[in-house]
Parts: sequence; C-alpha cells; structure tokens
Amino acid sequence: MKTKLLKSVLGVSLAVAGLAAGAGTIVGSKHDFSTQAWTTNGQLCVACHAPHNTALGLTVLWNHTLSTATYTMYNNAFSSTINGTVAAAPAGVSKLCLSCHDGTVAVNSFGGATGAVSIAASANLGTNLTNDHPIGITYDAALVTADGALWPIATTANIGTGGTKTRAGTISSNLLYNGSIECASCHDVHNTFTVPFATAGTSGTTNKLVKISMVGSALCLTCHDK
Ligand code: HEC
Ligand code: HEC
Ligand code: HEC
Ligand code: HEC
Repeated sequence: MKTKLLKSVLGVSLAVAGLAAGAGTIVGSKHDFSTQAWTTNGQLCVACHAPHNTALGLTVLWNHTLSTATYTMYNNAFSSTINGTVAAAPAGVSKLCLSCHDGTVAVNSFGGATGAVSIAASANLGTNLTNDHPIGITYDAALVTADGALWPIATTANIGTGGTKTRAGTISSNLLYNGSIECASCHDVHNTFTVPFATAGTSGTTNKLVKISMVGSALCLTCHDK
C-alpha cells in the first residue's frame, strides 16, 4: 500500500519535472548534470557550487576547477571601433563560465577532483575570444556617449518570463555584473528567467539560455540602439 502511494506520487512529480524542463528551472536544461554518471545522488549544483569550499577564494561558493588559460580578448587592438576598455583577461562571472567553456578543463573537474569529460565542441569557445561577443567592458554613461549607439544603462530591460516567473528592470540591474558586460549578461546559467530562444515552443535543452528573446534580435536591441 505504502509502496503504491510512493510510486504514484513519484509519477506525478516526474511528470511535473518533465513539464518544467526549460520553463524556468535548471532541471532539464543543458546545465542539469544530475543524471550524469559522474554525479552522485542526482545533485544539481555540485559541479559549480559547494556549501563549504572556499579554497578557491571566489564568490558564489565556486566549486569548479578554474582554467589557467591565456586568452585573446576582443578589444580595440583587434577592432578599432571598440570604444570601451576591455579587461586584460576574463574576470568575474565570465571566468567561472570559461572554467568549462574554454575547453581546457574537464566538465567533471570539481571539488578538487580531476575529471576527464570534455565539453561538446559546439559549446567550446576556446581561448581565442575574438570570434565571440566582447566581454569585460564597463557599460557606463561614458561608454554610452563614446559609442553613440548604446542605450543608457537606466533603460528598462525585461529579461522575460521563465515559466511563471517574470523579472523586469534596467540594463544595469538585470544585465550587468559589477557594471560590466559578461557572459551572464546574455545567458542565464540557471535557466530561471530564460526565454524561448526563437519561436514559441523552442525551449528546454535548445534555448541557448538567453535572457531576452532573439526574435527580431530583441536581445541585441536591448543594449544596441541600431
Ligand atoms: C553550470 C554551473 C552552475 C550550476 C549547475 C549551478 N550554478 Fe549557481 N551560479 C553559477 C554561476 C556561474 C553563478 C554566477 C553568475 C550568475 O549569477 O549568473 C551562479 C550564481 C549562483 C547564486 C548567486 C546569484 C544568484 O543567482 O542568486 C546562487 C544562489 C546559486 N548560483 C545557486 C545555485 C543552486 C542552488 C544550484 C543548484 C540547484 C546552482 N546554482 C547550480 C553556476 C551554476
Ligand atoms: C561545470 C561546467 C560548466 C559551467 C561552469 C558552465 N557551463 Fe555552460 N554548459 C556546460 C555544458 C556541459 C553544456 C552542454 C554542452 C552540450 O552538450 O551541448 C553547456 C551549455 C551551455 C549553453 C548552451 C545551452 C543550450 O541550451 O544549448 C550555454 C549558452 C552556456 N552553457 C552558457 C554558460 C554560461 C554563460 C556560463 C557561466 C555563467 C556557463 N555556461 C557555465 C558546462 C558548463
Ligand atoms: C551579447 C550576448 C552574448 C554574450 C555576451 C555571450 N553570449 Fe553566448 N550566445 C549568445 C547567443 C545569442 C547565442 C545563440 C547563438 C545562436 O545559436 O544563434 C549564444 C550561444 C552560446 C552557446 C551555445 C553554442 C551552441 O552552438 O550550442 C554557448 C555555449 C555560449 N553562448 C556561451 C557563452 C559564454 C561562455 C560567454 C562568455 C565568454 C558568452 N556565451 C557570451 C549571446 C551571448
Ligand atoms: C548587455 C548589453 C549588450 C547586449 C545584450 C549586446 N551587446 Fe553588443 N556590445 C555591447 C557593448 C557594451 C559593446 C562594446 C561597445 C564598445 O566598446 O564600443 C558591444 C559590442 C558589440 C559589437 C562589436 C563592435 C565593434 O566595434 O567591434 C558587435 C558587433 C555587437 N556588440 C553586436 C551585438 C549583437 C549582434 C548582439 C545580440 C546577439 C549584442 N551585441 C548584444 C553590449 C551589448
């Protein structure tokens, strides 16, 4: 009797989890590693965070082994029309993303252990970042003036709806990290507020985790006044 009840409850929760995939939760997204052979107890957070590992001295209780790569940045030595000062190397949240996405550290190298699972080629940005949107630029009033075609940082940006969750705010409150444009300006690593990437129904594991829809290039037009 008890077993039966447990099973049907489980059935319901699985169905709910299935529905929720891609609709405002990390479950079912590309960052859901809970079903990987190298994860124990179906944990969701451990590849990136741990409750007690401050050994790396980073914010957000970072648990993934960092990359020691040297990067080629998208800066004004590369593109003369870049007005902002580009950080010499990825920092802050971008450094956290690149601990997996530059392809030099295994996805399952965390908690001090060294793994061997490589990231898929399509998600491997490599260490030459000149073919990626620039990161590490302070987006402030001076840059808006110098560039001439960026929206002021107080412009309202709706980062969309993730399932039943919605969040609206300004460019500075929603999209910048310590005032800077970083990987997480465009992507929501937890999929919490991710919007359908393109057309309605495109979500889940293929939504590219964008915070603002790419329909009509809305994401780009949130910052660029073109
Ligand atoms: C693939 C890596 C990854 C996974 C998995 C992950 N996180 Fe994060 N988390 C990050 C990164 C990167 C940041 C900092 C960037 C940001 O906030 O967008 C962050 C920031 C946070 C923050 C602080 C900022 C905020 O959003 O409030 C909390 C809290 C957090 N994560 C909780 C969790 C929990 C709980 C889980 C598991 C259910 C989890 N994360 C899973 C990468 C991850
Ligand atoms: C623990 C390693 C890890 C970290 C840290 C991490 N990712 Fe990922 N990410 C992955 C893996 C693995 C995939 C799936 C690759 C594949 O199989 O397609 C992925 C996929 C993605 C995708 C594609 C999503 C889709 O739906 O196609 C985006 C975008 C992304 N990551 C952005 C980020 C950003 C931005 C950060 C930091 C804020 C970050 N990731 C941090 C491992 C990581
Ligand atoms: C200006 C916005 C922006 C920034 C900044 C940005 N991305 Fe993206 N990223 C996108 C968009 C839009 C896509 C989807 C492109 C497509 O599929 O057409 C994408 C796609 C991806 C993918 C999926 C690639 C694939 O083909 O599956 C990964 C992984 C990714 N980004 C990681 C990162 C990381 C890591 C950083 C920081 C180094 C970063 N992004 C910075 C907008 C951005
Ligand atoms: C969060 C704000 C933000 C978003 C969203 C954003 N950008 Fe940018 N983008 C910037 C900033 C800031 C710069 C650097 C401007 C400068 O330094 O002159 C930049 C630079 C660029 C450049 C480089 C121009 C050069 O001079 O070499 C291009 C091209 C570009 N963005 C296109 C895009 C596209 C396409 C999208 C959508 C996929 C996008 N951006 C989304 C803020 C953003």
